[in-house]
Formats: sequence, structure tokens, C-alpha cells
Amino acid sequence: MAHEHSILHVPPSGTTTHCQHGWIAHVDGTCVGHIYMLIEANKRIKFLDAWVHSEYRRKGIYRSLWDIRWGYVQRNFKGYIVYAWCKPMSLPLLLEKGFEKGEDCVYVESSI
Ligand SMILES: CC(C)(COP(=O)(O)OP(=O)(O)OC[C@H]1O[C@@H](n2cnc3c(N)ncnc32)[C@H](O)[C@@H]1OP(=O)(O)O)[C@@H](O)C(=O)NCCC(=O)NCCS
Repeated sequence: MAHEHSILHVPPSGTTTHCQHGWIAHVDGTCVGHIYMLIEANKRIKFLDAWVHSEYRRKGIYRSLWDIRWGYVQRNFKGYIVYAWCKPMSLPLLLEKGFEKGEDCVYVESSI
């Protein structure tokens, strides 16, 4: 790992209807990356919102965030289904980790 970063786990506050965990990568007190997961109904977990600051990319920060989150779900959520909607940059790591590719999904928008 080229950059020395630390990772902070932000557990759900319990004050909203969402049950979301975050993992924040920081260098010298500044956030340089994050990932989240949302605990949903029917023992499902959505992985979402992976981001690493453009100046810190391709140095393994996303991978280290991913591995810490994965260890956490392995320890605490046995029997759950984990899923994610991926962009081309985030898809390869999930395929490497054994996730199976579903249908493609295309973003659309319209101004009102
Ligand atoms: C996707 C993103 C989080 C990756 O962060 P990163 O710290 O640069 O990723 P890492 O260095 O830990 O790379 C881990 C793996 O992800 C994949 N990966 C990362 N960047 C990639 C890219 N530009 N193209 C293809 N694969 C990529 C590779 O499989 C890589 O493994 P490798 O280094 O052994 O090849 C970062 O590029 C980003 O924030 N992108 C913009 C936001 C975004 O698209 N988020 C995904 C939302 S679904």
C-alpha cells in the first residue's frame, strides 16, 4: 500500500429508519475514501457508495475498505444475501471476490 491511511467504522446511529454502516479511509484527518452498506429487510445487505479521492486511486484503498467491510459481514451477518449495483471501475473487485454478475442496468434521465 503506497499511502498510509487509517479506516474508521461508522456504525448505524439508531436515530433514523435506515440501518447503515460506513467505513471511512482517512489520511491526516481528511477523508480520502469511503464505502457503505445498508441492512435491508429479508436478510439482505446492499453494498453502496464506494468512492476514493481521485488523487489516491489505484493504491489499494478501495480494496482495503472492501476487505474490512467483508470481514465485518462475515463475522456478523451469516446467512444474509449481499448485493451491489456496480460501475465498470468497481465491478472487477466484486467479481474477483466471487460475486456473480446479474443483468446490466442503464442510467436514464429526463428534465422536467
Ligand atoms: C472505484 C473506486 C472506488 C476504486 O478505488 P481505488 O482505491 O482506486 O481502487 P483500488 O486501488 O483499491 O483497486 C481495487 C480493484 O478495483 C478495480 N479497479 C479500481 N480502479 C479501476 C479502474 N479504473 N478500472 C478497472 N478496475 C478498477 C481493480 O480490480 C482493482 O484491483 P487491482 O488494483 O488489483 O487491479 C474509485 O475509482 C472511485 O472512487 N471511482 C469513482 C466512483 C465510483 O465509480 N464508484 C463506484 C460506485 S458503484
